Amino acid sequence: MNRSRRDFFRQASAITALPVTWSAFSASMQAAAAQTRSEDYWLMVKRQFPLDPSLIYMNAANVCPASRPVMDRHLEFLQDFHRNPSFQNRDKYVPLRETLRDKIAAMFRVSAEEIAITRNTSEGSNLIVRGIDLKAGDEIVITDHNHPSNNDSWKVRAKREGLVVKSVPVSVPAKSADDLLAGIERAITPRTRVIAVTHLTSTTGILYPARQIAELARKRGIYMHLDGAQTFGLLDVNLKEIGCDSYSTSAHKWGMGPLEAGILYVREERIPQVWPAVVTAGWADNLKGARKFEVFGQRDDPRVVALEAAVDFLNLVGMPDVEKRVRDLTTHAKKGLKNLSGVELKTNLEAGLSGGVIKFKLKNVPTKRAYDTLWEKHRMAIAKTDSGDSEGLRWSPHVYNSMEEIDRAVAAVKGLAG
Ligand SMILES: Cc1ncc(COP(=O)(O)O)c(C=O)c1O
Repeated sequence: MNRSRRDFFRQASAITALPVTWSAFSASMQAAAAQTRSEDYWLMVKRQFPLDPSLIYMNAANVCPASRPVMDRHLEFLQDFHRNPSFQNRDKYVPLRETLRDKIAAMFRVSAEEIAITRNTSEGSNLIVRGIDLKAGDEIVITDHNHPSNNDSWKVRAKREGLVVKSVPVSVPAKSADDLLAGIERAITPRTRVIAVTHLTSTTGILYPARQIAELARKRGIYMHLDGAQTFGLLDVNLKEIGCDSYSTSAHKWGMGPLEAGILYVREERIPQVWPAVVTAGWADNLKGARKFEVFGQRDDPRVVALEAAVDFLNLVGMPDVEKRVRDLTTHAKKGLKNLSGVELKTNLEAGLSGGVIKFKLKNVPTKRAYDTLWEKHRMAIAKTDSGDSEGLRWSPHVYNSMEEIDRAVAAVKGLAG
């Protein structure tokens, strides 16, 4: 091992002790920036998480652990808040929220004026569902694999106001990006006002051709909303390039941030066309841009700082590297699973049609039994769908998973499926 690598790992092991300060972690990561992204590097990243070492935790699509630096900053600000809840002490949260907004905007390559800090994806998507002017007979195109927050939410509004929701069926696995696009295009009529799709589905892990769908919508003057619950913190999302009208996401999934913190992006030209669903104190302050969507009354201000720490963490590792690592882990897992005769892989292997979510079904073992056995015998924390075209087990590994864990997980499935 050469000297610089030795120095790096000496530093890396020094930061495994608790508590890990932001500055120690940040210094080590910067020292590591020049290093190749080896397994040792990723083990150092893994050590930043409080995960129980007996677990194989592969459920990022649902909830991620927050890293120690995120929890440290959250706790530090929480204690400070409650030690001194005066207006004077809390004044600092106004500029802190603006710093966070700037960092999120830079990450998504959009303007800070287009970013609102919400509670989660569901809230952001519902702000769009409730906020767009529509009249009886107007049509909304969704897909069968949209999450309820971008599916049932439209149906509830449709029932109340006489709108028509058209849901596009989804092939499992996806046939091609063109086929996904064609499915949406076929559903469009002269009455279509909104297309609302999921960037990366949580059901079977299909990556939708968001840019092409946004282009199609833009050409026809249709509003396009993108559910990004499964892409912020996983993919290096460039909203400018995608060109959607809005994008909603949560911090506690791939973002590895606090619970109940989320982001809603609304494209500048669309902001005046979307009504705010919640209006309370602060509304009369001449709010600029997307800030009008985040007037929710008193907020949990220390959480805003924790979300900023999560964005800093992602930036420190680097979004392109995060995406590459998750793709390496999932490709390794998918290839391992595909080789097992007792397994039906439902997620595409192609990078253009998939991301960090993997769904598969055991041909000869009931899904519930497989799920319980993997938990009880192997401490694998994963998700499952009990029936329908998405039936099966879901793995969603993140940067805190190792290749060794993937090998152990595939071996466990092999033992079960034959
Ligand atoms: C695609 C998708 N959209 C929206 C959500 C809702 O996220 P939240 O509960 O954070 O609002 C989820 C949650 O799993 C999801 O997978």
